[in-house]
Amino acid sequence: MNHFNQLLENNKKWAKEVVEVDPDYFTRLEHIQNPDYLWIGCSDSRVPADKITGTHPGEIFVHRNIANMVVHTDINLLAVLEYAVNHLKVKHIIVCGHYGCGGVKSAMTNHNFGIINKWIRNIKDVYRIHSTEIEQLDQESDKINRMVELNVQEQVINLAKTSIIQKAWKECQMPSLHGWVYDLHDGLIKTVFEMGPDDFLDPLYRFDDL
Ligand code: CO
Repeated sequence: MNHFNQLLENNKKWAKEVVEVDPDYFTRLEHIQNPDYLWIGCSDSRVPADKITGTHPGEIFVHRNIANMVVHTDINLLAVLEYAVNHLKVKHIIVCGHYGCGGVKSAMTNHNFGIINKWIRNIKDVYRIHSTEIEQLDQESDKINRMVELNVQEQVINLAKTSIIQKAWKECQMPSLHGWVYDLHDGLIKTVFEMGPDDFLDPLYRFDDL
C-alpha cells in the first residue's frame, strides 16, 4: 500500500460490504460495547489482536504498546485496565507477546535507543529476574524467545499486583489472566501462563485492606 488514501478507499469499501451482508450491523454496534476480553498486546503491525483470534468489532477491548508491557506507572494502561475491569467487566485479560519481538530484542542489547530506553528498561528488569535461566541457553534466538515468554509471564504478574485486579478478584473472582505468545512463523498462539484469584502472588504485593 503506497498511499494513505488507499486506507480511506478501503474503509468505504469495507463499510459498504458490511452493510450489504448485515444491514443492521452498525446500528447494533453503535450503542453497546460489551466485550468479554481485554487484550494487552505488542504494537507490532504483524500481530493484530482481532485477526489472529477471529474476533469481531465489539468483542475485544485492546491496548497495545511496545512489547506488551504492564507498567504500574503507565496511566494509559491503568485507565484501560480500570475501564475494562470495572465498567466493561471483562471476564478475561490476555497479555499476548510474540516471538522475535523487537522490543525484547532491543532490551537485550546495550544500544542507546534514546527516549525508548526508558520503556525498555522495564524489559531489562524481566531479564534481570530470569537471567540465570536465560543465560543457560546457547542460541541468541532461543534466549530472545524465552525472554518473550518470561516477559509475558511477568506482565501477567504485574496485572495481579494492581489494586484494580486484586479488588475485582476479591469481589467477583474475575477476571482470569492469560499469558500468550504468538508465533509469526505459523500464526499460532502458545499459552504460556495463567493466573487467577487463587493462584500464588508474592505476599509482598497483596493488599489486605481492599
Ligand atoms: Co513486539
